[in-house]
Formats: sequence, structure tokens, C-alpha cells
Amino acid sequence: MSKITAAITAVGKYLPEYILSNKELETMVDTNDEWITSRTGIKERRILKEENAGASFMAIEAAKDLLQKSGVNPEEIDAVIVSTATPDMPVASTAVYTATKIGATNAFAFDLQAACSSFLYGMSVASTYIESGRYKKVLLIGSDKMSSIIDYTDRATCIIFGDGAGAVLFEPNEEGLGLQDEYLRSDGIGRDYLKIEAGGSILPPSEETVKNKQHFVHQEGRTVFKFAVSNMADVSEKILTRNNLTKDDVSWLVSHQANKRIIEATADRIGLDENKVMMNIHKYGNTTSATLPLLLNDYEKELKKGDNLIFAAFGGGFTWGAIYLKWAYNS
Ligand code: UT7
Repeated sequence: MSKITAAITAVGKYLPEYILSNKELETMVDTNDEWITSRTGIKERRILKEENAGASFMAIEAAKDLLQKSGVNPEEIDAVIVSTATPDMPVASTAVYTATKIGATNAFAFDLQAACSSFLYGMSVASTYIESGRYKKVLLIGSDKMSSIIDYTDRATCIIFGDGAGAVLFEPNEEGLGLQDEYLRSDGIGRDYLKIEAGGSILPPSEETVKNKQHFVHQEGRTVFKFAVSNMADVSEKILTRNNLTKDDVSWLVSHQANKRIIEATADRIGLDENKVMMNIHKYGNTTSATLPLLLNDYEKELKKGDNLIFAAFGGGFTWGAIYLKWAYNS
């Protein structure tokens, strides 16, 4: 019997309607379109404005989009994983609520948190479930409402992030398509440079922490930038080398969208032309767990069965890694 591999067989997405442009940010903080565009590549990002709506709202919409496009019966889904850094609530899983709302009544569900690498790590977990032979349909969703943890008076962070969600379905494949290899890393030194200090078990929320804005994301951008560039490039190069792939074998780089300059540095290191690099940071900014599945949605029509995709991500913690996946369908 041939080995079971785990392939992505369907994708879906949700983006909030509201567009926060660089021009509007100019009216909120001391910044300008030229600085944001040249330093990050971002022109606009989406913001979820609906009342009482969090990560699950977008996760549910992205999952419904996938189900509607693929015709998959939600009752056949075995597991729902929501990768997110902004769960609806600290306790009571976003994925569990999402699964129930989409009618995945036979699934177990849980959240996975690894900052901007949440979706990449989720791909590892989802595909391992499939490869084990125990599960046949695993729904992986990346959903983040970054606007809920961003200080819109802090120009160092508010220009970067946006809200959105993307979903993919993993199923068994017997043609050898799907996830081929992964190289995942983490390093706890990162928590000094990208964090939300308050609201967890070290520093529970209080009037004081709110007054000090410790419930918002704080990032030492320059340091994170340096780690992101070297580590994402390293893992991408490593996964090519150990799979005997040359740059000509790679169809697409599917990179986390944190900064256009980081994506370009990774592409440069593995010698990839611009036209093989998926990019949508200009439209959505950094949507944390949603960047990779949103890219797959935006480029789905261009993807062909057998294409070699290299995924790469870097995020808080630090967490990072690369995945080599063979695309499994023509749309
Ligand atoms: O996804 C998770 C991982 N996160 C990342 O990968 C993000 C990594 N970091 C970055 O993408 C970049 O570091 C940023 C986009 C956050 C910042 O870009 P930078 O080129 O590293 O800028 P910087 O922080 O070194 O600041 C350069 C200058 C500073 O002024 P001085 O000290 O040179 O006078 C900042 O105060 O730019 C200033 N600055 C701004 N100016 C206009 C910082 N933010 C802004 C802004 N508008 N929004």
C-alpha cells in the first residue's frame, strides 16, 4: 500500500469590508504613505468593525466559503483547528465554537497559538493527523482580529497589522501529493521583543495594566526584522537542500506577509524570481495566522496539480519554519 500523504483539497477566505488605508492612518498617527509603503510594502489593511465579533466570526465565514465552494458535508469533518493569536476569549476555544456553528458536529476542535507561525504549525499538526490514518478530513483555519490588540496611537505597530481569515481542508492523498517535509523551529529569547505583557498569568489585567497600555502588542521592530530575515531565509534554504530541490523546481514561495523586505530577502536567498513569490501584503497587511491561507485563496486559480510550494513563516516567541508541499488540484 502506498504511503498516505496529506494534501490541501479546498480553500476559503473571509475579509472584513472596512479598508483602513495609509491615508487614513496619516490622520491617526505621525506617519505617511511613503514611509509605510517603502518600509513595509503595505498600502491598506482590513478591519473588522462588526459589534461583538471576534476571531470566530471570521473563521466561520472562511469555513463556510470553503464548504460552499467544495461541496464538502461539514458532518464529515473529523477535526477543526483554529490557528489564532487573538482567540474570542482566553478560555472557551474559538475552534470549538466555530466547529459547532459550521455544522461540524462530529469533529473535535481546538485552538493553536504560535503567533505569526500559528498557521504553519497548524499545517504540521493537521497533516500529521491525516498521515496517521486516523482522520480523513481536517479543517485548518487561520483567523486573527489583530485590531483588537493593537494600539492605534502607536505608529510602530498600528501600520502593520490587519484582520482576516483563511481556511484549508487537509485530506489523504495516494498520489504522493501534499505535505512532503517540514522544518519547524522556536526560540524563547524572542519573547522580549514581541509580546503583549498583560492579560496572561504573569500579569493579569488590572486598571494599572490598562492605563499603561500593556494589553496591546509591543514590538521592537528592528530586532524582530533581523531575526525574521535570517531565520526565514535559513529554513527555506535548508528545506530546499534536504529535498534536493533547485530554485527551478520551486513553483511558488508562500511566505508569511509581515514585511515586503523580509519576503524579498527570503526569495533572494533561494534565488527565486519575483514572479514566483506570492504577495498580498499591499492589500491586507500582516494578518498573523491568516496570511498563508489568504495567499492560497488569492493565487488558487494559478496553482496547478504537482506545483512545488515552499511555505515560510516567522513570528513572536520566536517561532518559525518552512514547509514543502506539492499542490494537489487544478481549479
Ligand atoms: O509578523 C511577526 C513578525 N514581525 C515582523 O516580522 C516585523 C519585523 N519588523 C518590521 O517589519 C520593521 O522593523 C518595521 C516595519 C516594524 C519598522 O521598520 P524599520 O525599517 O525597522 O524602522 P525602525 O523601527 O528602525 O524605525 C526607523 C525610523 C525611526 O525614526 P528614527 O529613530 O530613525 O528617527 C522610527 O521612529 O522610522 C520611524 N518610524 C516611523 N516613521 C513614520 C517608525 N514607525 C514609523 C511610522 N511612520 N509608522
